[in-house]
Amino acid sequence: MAIRKTLVQALAASAMANLVHAHAIVAPAGQLDARTHPSPTCDPSQTVTQTETTTVTSWTALLTITLGGPGTKTVTETTTTTTTASPTFTLPSCPTQCPPPPSCNNLGFDWAYYNSSARNTDTTYSSFHPDFFKNTAPVYVGTTSYVGGLYGQSSTEMTGPIYDSSRVSFALDYFALNHHAYIYACERGTYTVDIPYANDAVYLWTGAKAYSGWTDANADAKALYDQPDHIAGRASFRFSVPAGTYVPVRFFYGQAQYGGGFSFNVTAPSGQVIVSDWETFSPYVVRYSCDGTTAPAFPAFGRET
Ligand SMILES: *[C@@H]1O[C@H](CO)[C@@H](O)[C@H](O)[C@H]1NC(C)=O
Ligand SMILES: *[C@@H]1O[C@H](CO)[C@@H](O)[C@H](O)[C@H]1NC(C)=O
Repeated sequence: MAIRKTLVQALAASAMANLVHAHAIVAPAGQLDARTHPSPTCDPSQTVTQTETTTVTSWTALLTITLGGPGTKTVTETTTTTTTASPTFTLPSCPTQCPPPPSCNNLGFDWAYYNSSARNTDTTYSSFHPDFFKNTAPVYVGTTSYVGGLYGQSSTEMTGPIYDSSRVSFALDYFALNHHAYIYACERGTYTVDIPYANDAVYLWTGAKAYSGWTDANADAKALYDQPDHIAGRASFRFSVPAGTYVPVRFFYGQAQYGGGFSFNVTAPSGQVIVSDWETFSPYVVRYSCDGTTAPAFPAFGRET
């Protein structure tokens, strides 16, 4: 009996293990743990509960006991056991619709601050040349969980922090900011980069040239402040990619005289905004892939190609 009991227990345990496994396929643990982002189709008031029942039947434990002594008797015992398990699990109310890539302390944008002497005197801020900074030593480098901001907009605000930098005092006139990261396109389709506000300039590159080969001339979009007419720049760019792609993205902000700022958003095909000045560490924006080769880290600022 002890033997059979052990067999049945083992079976029940294995049935439970299978259920745990099935559960894992429906909602991988990594996904459950990931930060969730409300999306247009997500109703946070809804709780999804899934119940899965597995019935294990017709298990036959065959036990043959041979008793010694005179008149040897053989007892054959056959047992059929039915085990039913009904685990219940609840998914988070707004599950991430598109699984983000693995993360390994790699979220956010790399960014760098450079001194810049370029004054804006014309309709296209033609004195500002982002590619000049490829081999210019940055004043500061960091990682940011969001992008965009307003700088030096009041006459008293001559210096201040930028992003979540440990350094709190940057000159807020005559500087440039370089940013790069990969957008992880877990959705196939068209991604939209919006630069709704540029004062004085934002240049954008996407794809391989954003990693290496970017020049003023081959930018995918330029949003330029028209100084004589005092009209802020704006621009938009779309790119279509297959699912599961890491897309290099670089953008340069240039600030001339008299304060300024910019905003920069990236929207996924589903409508979810994955980069903006309020999106904090999107799981879809990484500085490199965890394997280090699918999406390698960018070259160091100041030694770019
Ligand atoms: C940047 O400009 C500041 C203020 O003018 C200056 O103190 C600093 O040395 C400059 N840094 C570099 C790397 O040029
Ligand atoms: C960009 O994001 C800002 C919030 O940071 C939002 O106000 C703005 O509407 C967004 N623009 C676009 C075009 O999505």
